[in-house]
Amino acid sequence: MTPFAADADAATEILAAIRALQAHDLPTHGGRTLAYVYDAGVPGLDELAAAAYASAMHANALDPTAFPSLPAMEGDLVATAAALLGGGPETVGTVTAGGTESCLLAVAAARDARGDVEHPRMVIASSAHAAFHKAAHYFGVEIDMVDVDPATLRADVGAMAAAIGPDTVLVVASAPSYAHGVIDPIPEIAAAAAARGVRCHVDACIGGWILGSWRRFGIRPGDREVPPFDLSVPGVTSLSVDLHKYAYTPKGASVLLHASAELRAAQYFVHTNWPGYAMLNTTLQSTRSGGPIAAAWAVVNRLGDKGYRAIAERTADAVTRIRARIAEIPGLRVLAEPDATLIALAATNGGPNVFTIADEMAARGYYIQPQFAFRGVPATLHITVTAANADHEAELVDALSESVRAAAQQPEPGFPPEVIEAVMAADLSTPTGLAAAAGSLGLIGDSGALRLPQRMAPINALLDAMPASAREQVLRGVLSMLTRPGTDLLVR
Ligand SMILES: Cc1ncc(COP(=O)(O)O)c(C=O)c1O
Repeated sequence: MTPFAADADAATEILAAIRALQAHDLPTHGGRTLAYVYDAGVPGLDELAAAAYASAMHANALDPTAFPSLPAMEGDLVATAAALLGGGPETVGTVTAGGTESCLLAVAAARDARGDVEHPRMVIASSAHAAFHKAAHYFGVEIDMVDVDPATLRADVGAMAAAIGPDTVLVVASAPSYAHGVIDPIPEIAAAAAARGVRCHVDACIGGWILGSWRRFGIRPGDREVPPFDLSVPGVTSLSVDLHKYAYTPKGASVLLHASAELRAAQYFVHTNWPGYAMLNTTLQSTRSGGPIAAAWAVVNRLGDKGYRAIAERTADAVTRIRARIAEIPGLRVLAEPDATLIALAATNGGPNVFTIADEMAARGYYIQPQFAFRGVPATLHITVTAANADHEAELVDALSESVRAAAQQPEPGFPPEVIEAVMAADLSTPTGLAAAAGSLGLIGDSGALRLPQRMAPINALLDAMPASAREQVLRGVLSMLTRPGTDLLVR
C-alpha cells in the first residue's frame, strides 16, 4: 500500500490493514518482550489512555495560552514526579517526549548556563546512557568518560571527582544504568560535583518511577533498601524520569525536573527576532502534541497510589524471583546484582554464546536484548522486568533455561572465512560497498532490499568483533537501507 493509493476508505478496512502490518511486530503486552515496552497488566488502562490521547492529540503545547489544559496537566505530572522523587518547594519540571529528550535538555541547560566556558565538558561514567553521547554530539560538549568500578559496575566516585575540571558544566550519574542495572553512588558523586560548583544530573529515566514507588510504599525487593538517588540528595540539580517506562503511560512522555527555576532557565528557547509568532519552547520540539500529556495524566491519575503500589509490589516480586531462578541456570551468570528491575546476563566461562541464546529465546517467543562487549565487560543479554512478568516468572526462566541448553549444542556463531574476506574487501563507507557486504552476508532479498535473517547471532557476533567506530559506520548504512521506502522487513 502506498500513501493516497489505497482504495480502502472504510475505517475498519484501514485498521485491519494496520493490524496486518503489525502482525510481525513484537508483542507490546504479555511480558514476552523484555525491552522497549512496559505493560502494567491493568484491565481498561489502555482504553482510557487511548481516549485521553485522542481527546488532546490535535492540541498544541507550543502555546500554553492557546491550550491551557496542557500546561495544567503538565503541571500535575511534574508535581507528582517531584513528590515521588525528593523534590522540594522550589522544584520545577517539564514534560518532554522521552528519556533522550530529557537528557539532551539537561545537557543543553547545563551548557547554556555556563556561557563563560568556551569549551564545555561533562563527566559521565562509561555506563551512562548513549543519550549523553548524543547530547555531546549535538551540543558540542566534550565528554570525559570514566570507567566504572570493574567489580560493581557502578561509577567510580574517586575517578569521577578527579575528572571534574574548570570546563566541566555537568556531572551525570545513573539510577540505574540501562546496560547493567546498577545505581551509581549518587550522594558521593553529587557532593563531588557540588564541591566544584558543578551541576549534577541523575538519569533516572528508566528507574526513577519504580525506585520512587518502592521507597514510597516500603517495598524492599531482595530485602534491600533503595539507596538515596533523587533530588533529596544534596548536590543533585536535575533528574530525568520517564513516564512512558515504569509509570506505564503511552510513549512520548518523560519528566525533566530541575531543583529550581533558576537551574532550568537556560533549558528554554525563546525567539522573537523573526516575522512570525513568538516562539517559546520549553523542549526541543516546538509543535508538541497534547496526546502524550493527556494520556499520561489519565494513566497516572487512574493508577494513583493504590495502582502504583500494587504494580510496584508485583514488579519487585517478579524481578526477585527471576533473578533467583536465573542463578540456577548453568552456563549463565548475572553480571551485577540488580538494584532495580534490569538484569544483565553474561555467559559463564565456556558457556554458550549469548547472541545464540537470544535467538533461541526468540524462537520460543521471547525478545531479550543483546548488548555488545564494552571496555572489559563481555557481551551480555538485557532483561527489563515489568509488572507483566509477575506470575509468569517460571515460564520465562524455563524458556531461558531451555535456550541456554539449546545454544550450548551449537557452534560459535559466525560466517565462513571467504564471506568475512568479501565483507572486509568492501568499502563500508559507501552505500554500494555496504550493499555488496550485505549481499555477501546473505542479507539482500530477491527484491534487492535488505532482509534480516531469523537468526541474528552470526551478525551480532560479527558486529561485536568490530571496533565501535566501524560498527557505527556499518549500522548507520544499515539504518539507511532499512528505512528506504519499499523495504519489507516482514519477509524473513
Ligand atoms: C537510563 C536511561 N536513560 C535514558 C534513556 C532514553 O530513553 P528514551 O528511549 O525514552 O529516549 C533510557 C532508555 O531506556 C534509559 O534507560
